[in-house]
Formats: sequence, structure tokens, C-alpha cells
Amino acid sequence: MRVIHHIGELRQHLAAFDSPAFVPTMGNLHEGHLSLIRQAKPLGDVTVASIFVNRLQFLPHEDFDTYPRTLQADCAKLEATGCDVVFAPSEQELYPEPQGFKVHPPAHLADMLEGHFRPGFFTGVSTVVLKLFQIVFGQSRGTGHAVFGLKDYQQLMVIRQMVRQFALPIHIHGGAIERAPDGLALSSRNSYLNAKERTEAVQLSIALHALAAGVLGGVHNLAALEQQATQHLTQRGWQVDYLTVRRRLDLQAPETADLQAGQLVALGAARLGRTRLIDNLEF
Ligand code: PAJ
Repeated sequence: MRVIHHIGELRQHLAAFDSPAFVPTMGNLHEGHLSLIRQAKPLGDVTVASIFVNRLQFLPHEDFDTYPRTLQADCAKLEATGCDVVFAPSEQELYPEPQGFKVHPPAHLADMLEGHFRPGFFTGVSTVVLKLFQIVFGQSRGTGHAVFGLKDYQQLMVIRQMVRQFALPIHIHGGAIERAPDGLALSSRNSYLNAKERTEAVQLSIALHALAAGVLGGVHNLAALEQQATQHLTQRGWQVDYLTVRRRLDLQAPETADLQAGQLVALGAARLGRTRLIDNLEF
């Protein structure tokens, strides 16, 4: 496995391949990330992961400075999983001058849910992902492939639309959410949880299951269901940003006909102590 820190060297190395399969990450890798690498491997003729903690997608009060940076351990895991190339640029390498040009996703997609609670988040994500796509796929002759986790449901939707609207020659693939045995979705931020919080954390996915069970059980008053789920978590000490049922298609609130047709997703974000967790459940 090659570990490459510079754009020029990566471009030179990838010029020998037709269709890279790419998994962008911010490092501190766990089985969720590695499952995306396994999914990527058969898609292309070279498997590339990137590790870059992207300042543009953090708000000033968020955890950019303390986000776990574990490059050596990450590279060992990637190598054991069969990744071919790791691109780990410094901030100076990826942003040698302030990134004044940015990709602004449309408000109807990016200003709700995560984007409402983390303003500018999807601009930061889209900008770095477009830049990484240019670097990884810029020299490939065939169609590229990139794999993103369903864990970040709205992010996957934003990237899919960006690729479509800019006609990028890249297939976007969604990877299933990897969970701990108790049901907690794996996340780099789980390492912030203390033992008591870690035991409690599974309640977020339990709340999403309760929302889905309510709808599947015939309840059409979504506001009441969502309020009940929010109250449940709040009483247990959580601060809930949102717990909501949406259409998978556009993440808009479902009409009664949508509730009967299915194709729904329950999405949640909530804080436990200083840790913000997100999760979702298609049903
Ligand atoms: P990061 O949080 O490191 O996640 C990298 C990829 O791993 C994302 O596609 C995410 O959805 C996926 N992932 C995380 N946890 C997962 C789990 N439990 N199961 C399956 N997949 C999981 O998402 C980002 O980084 C950044 O926003 C990035 C796209 C790299 C842009 O900076």
C-alpha cells in the first residue's frame, strides 16, 4: 500500500489506472469505513482512501482541533483491508491559499436537518469532495467510483446531486451502516463517550426504530410520534436536534400517501454530554 501526501505524486501514481474506486474519510477509521473499502475494491482497478480532517466543514465551536488524528493506526487498518493507496494531504497541501471558490448545494437539500444545525456544513463537505474528486479522478480514462456511507444519509444525497448536476464521470455508491453489537452506529465520535454515555448511546437508534414502528403500525400523526420520541430521549438526558420521518427521495416531510407507499427514512441527531451523534433507519 502506498501512502501519499502530495497531490502531484498521487496524480502521477494514479495515471497508470483507468478507473479508481475512492473512499473519502476524515480518519480515525473503524469497521464502518473499512466496510466501504471492501465495497470499493471490486468496483475499480485501484482502491484509494483519503484521510483529511476538513476544516471547512466544522463550525468554530465544533471539534476540529480535537478530532482524533490517528494516521499510523488508520494506515495499518487500510493495508489489512486491501486498500492500495492512501492520500493523506496536509492542510497546507489541500488548502495552500484560502479556499475562496466553494460549492454551495441548494438550500432545499442542504439547509434542513444537518444543514440547519450545522450551517455551512454541506458547503464545506461538497467543496472538499469536489476537490478530492478532481485530484483522484482527474487523470482517469474510465468512469470513477466513490463509496459513501448511508450513516451520513443527507451527505450521500448532496454528493449524488452534485455529481449529477456537474456531470462528473463518477458513480456514487451507498454503503450500509455498520453497527456495534448493541445497535449503536459506529462513528469516530463514539470515542468521546464515557462508559455511562456509551451504554446510553444505543437509545438513539432505539428511538428511530420506535418512529418506524409507529408509522408501520398505522400512526399518521408524525408530529406526535416525533414529539414522543424527542421527549423520551430528553428525559434520559439527551439534547435532541431532530428526530424525524422523511421521504427517502428528497428528505421532505411525507404526505399521507407517502406514509402508505413506504420509501421512508427516520433520521436523528442528538447530543449526549459533549458528543453529538447522528443515525438513521430506512423503512
Ligand atoms: P467520515 O465521518 O470520516 O466518514 C467517511 C465515510 O464513512 C462517510 O461516507 C461516512 O458516511 C462513512 N461512515 C461513517 N460511519 C459509518 C458506519 N458506521 N457505517 C458505514 N459507513 C460509515 O463523512 C466524512 O468523513 C466527511 O464528511 C467526508 C465525506 C470525508 C468529507 O470531508
